Amino acid sequence: MEKRYGRITGWGAYVPEKVLTNHDLEQLVDTSHEWIVQRTGIHQRHIAGPEETNATMSVAAARRALQKANLAATDLDLIIVATTTGDFITPAVSSQIQHMLGATNVPAFVLANGCTGFLYALTTAQQFISGGVYRNILIIGSELLSRYVDWTDRNTCVLFGDAAGAFVMQATSEPCGLFGFDMGSDGSGSQHIIAPAMGSAEPVNATTFAERRHFIRMNGREVFKFATRVLGSTSQRSLAQAGMTLDDIDCIVPHQANLRIIEAAARAMNLPIERFLVKVHKYANTSAASIPVAICDGLDSGEIRLDDRLLLVSFGSGLTWASAVLQMAPTLQKPRYSNGVAEPATAEWVTA
Ligand code: UT7
Repeated sequence: MEKRYGRITGWGAYVPEKVLTNHDLEQLVDTSHEWIVQRTGIHQRHIAGPEETNATMSVAAARRALQKANLAATDLDLIIVATTTGDFITPAVSSQIQHMLGATNVPAFVLANGCTGFLYALTTAQQFISGGVYRNILIIGSELLSRYVDWTDRNTCVLFGDAAGAFVMQATSEPCGLFGFDMGSDGSGSQHIIAPAMGSAEPVNATTFAERRHFIRMNGREVFKFATRVLGSTSQRSLAQAGMTLDDIDCIVPHQANLRIIEAAARAMNLPIERFLVKVHKYANTSAASIPVAICDGLDSGEIRLDDRLLLVSFGSGLTWASAVLQMAPTLQKPRYSNGVAEPATAEWVTA
């Protein structure tokens, strides 16, 4: 069989309209804009309105991605939704999304892996494409974290935001897509990011409710140490699998959790911070949505191009890590830069 690559032909993001600034948070908990900016780099986050759900945000992002790919929902062979904040514990939000999109009878599933979920989903989709099973796959990373954080806990509530990002991956014989990946898990650190009373281990009751154990709790310092430990090593493994080095990479797209973590990764890789795509100031930590939303923003702003070689790298609950070398589209014949400025992505590039 001819080798099949997974080209990203569509991409789309959705962020809710409502913006919550650090100054707004000063009214809710004992914090300050200065503390949040200095410790995290976050200036604001988007928060879903009362009518919005994980499914509606996902569908909005997915429709944009399908339109870019010029694909109907019925053309899809598979939908993978990376999220841990679906509308219900059951049914899986993937089936709601499939129905709302009108993707009749298309198989759909949720991949629940916190902040690394989108990279796990991307890698999973690639396997279905390269195995020749499916041709058109919708991959969504979506989180409605504002309904899972404890708005009285300053350790967590300042960090997160709501958003959804979607990619359409299509089979092609032209070299592009995922050139290498790495994934890993260390469950010995599972207690460091946990919603203790949101599952079957500790069903919600009056006591767990009063103790607010149904909200996310985090040992930020431990997660910080873990992140700085794994980001460099997982990146090296993905690069090695791709047969590349950091010199072959145009831009690094890290999980957008904390600017200080990104700066630490830059130091570990011996790279200037300018080589990293940074969007954490605008959206805060949107978990599984953070990487696709950052990529959509970077394509719109012209900071990255569809044929750039991107190193995607993430860490999160589990604890887990993941990285991937991704070139969304085949190499273009156009000059990479005009007058020293990266050209923004345009629709015609997709078919170029
Ligand atoms: O996607 C993966 C999800 N998780 C993460 O990405 C989290 C990774 N960790 C982090 O980003 C950082 O550890 C935090 C931003 C969460 C915290 O930064 P830090 O520099 O590690 O602060 P810290 O936990 O060492 O806390 C320093 C102080 C503490 O006070 P004391 O105990 O020293 O008196 C906290 O109580 O800062 C206090 N603090 C705050 N102060 C003002 C914690 N949160 C706040 C706040 N405003 N919002």
